[in-house]
Amino acid sequence: MEANMVTAIDSKSSATYVRRLEHLLDASRLLNSTLELSELTEIVLRIVQDEIPVDRCTLFVVDRKQKLLRLFIGLGGHAAVTGEPLDIEDAYADERFQQKFDEQFGYRTKDALCLPVFNCDGVIVGVLQLLNRTRPLNREDKEFLDSMCTYLGLALHNAWVHRELVESRKAEQELRQIRDRLEQAEKLSAMNELVAGIIHEMKNPLAVAIGYCSLMEEEVTAPVTERVSKVKTAVAQALKVAKNFLNFARSAGERVPTDVNSLITQTTELLTYDFRSRRVKLVCELDHLPITWVDPGSIQQVLLNLLKNAHQAAGDKAGGGTISIRSSHNSERSTIRIEISDDGPGIPAEVQSRIFEPFFTTKPSGSGTGLGLAVSKRIIEAHWGKLTFESTPGQGATFIIELPVHESTF
Ligand SMILES: Nc1ncnc2c1ncn2[C@@H]1O[C@H](COP(=O)(O)OP(=O)(O)O)[C@@H](O)[C@H]1O
Ligand SMILES: [Mg+2]
Repeated sequence: MEANMVTAIDSKSSATYVRRLEHLLDASRLLNSTLELSELTEIVLRIVQDEIPVDRCTLFVVDRKQKLLRLFIGLGGHAAVTGEPLDIEDAYADERFQQKFDEQFGYRTKDALCLPVFNCDGVIVGVLQLLNRTRPLNREDKEFLDSMCTYLGLALHNAWVHRELVESRKAEQELRQIRDRLEQAEKLSAMNELVAGIIHEMKNPLAVAIGYCSLMEEEVTAPVTERVSKVKTAVAQALKVAKNFLNFARSAGERVPTDVNSLITQTTELLTYDFRSRRVKLVCELDHLPITWVDPGSIQQVLLNLLKNAHQAAGDKAGGGTISIRSSHNSERSTIRIEISDDGPGIPAEVQSRIFEPFFTTKPSGSGTGLGLAVSKRIIEAHWGKLTFESTPGQGATFIIELPVHESTF
């Protein structure tokens, strides 16, 4: 009879033992299958709670740089700092216990077990905290928890290494992008100085050539007139490029208090004829704007560039399209915003990342210089503002200028 009882107890405990072993194997397999901290935590908590008779189980993860996450205090914090396990029967009688956590979560802690988790280098990477057991923990429970903590330490270590690798790759990529941008800026400024000098010298002879072409057009007869007119168009295009480029090099001049709405009105007036000739409708919604410190010439140049692009885009629409200009004031951020929208073809996704590049154009040679947006962005950024765009291909484009109102913010 007695012998039978022993066998019964043995088979029961060996069944528990086998189940736990299976659970541990499961844990090891699952923990090896993920590098995500949140997933790791979920796996551990599920397995521990299945096996160990406690009411609440929490995994605290220690920051890689040894800053303990919210762990300097409380029982878990103590285990993390000392690296020693804590087994407390009555939490409220222990001065290290922080009642405020119970108050915060509406919980009543009775007993607590805090097990530090170490990685393979013996560095503490977490604390497993078990609260309010439903029966006393036996030797097997503690062995099970020890094994879990060992697996957990390895898994957390892998997760950290993985996270660091991803972060360092991201940082490397960002650094490369900054270096590329810097290189481009350096190239541009070296090119600016060189080319601006040459172009400045070219501007006058080009203007003279246009003048002589105009004279010749009156003096000669067909077919020479036609040829002269073609020469004149070509030289005018060269002069346009030269002027654009000089604006690009100059970026922005002296800032003065300016009424930007009246700058917008003046600029649209300049384009009235062009708009009408291609049946492009213009809608203006100008809000009251505060006087803003800008270089009016440069800002007008930007408005002109954006309006010309919008005009080209909307003008291609059958029956003529519509351009809208909106201005508004953000008093909280002390900025003004100008939006220029058209209902043209929009900007194809594949060129969106390139439109601000100098000399990038999708227009036929002779009609686009690819400098309008590059010049505009440079001018707006020289005013500490932002030039951005939104476009759904097929549904038009909106270019947005944001400028700080005050000179002091420059
Ligand atoms: N409103 C717009 N709608 C569609 N595409 C635009 C618009 N504005 C600019 N783009 C695109 O950006 C390119 C660069 O513009 P920009 O720098 O002004 O040079 P350009 O007008 O001489 O081509 C244009 O060739 C065009 O592809
Ligand atoms: Mg343009």
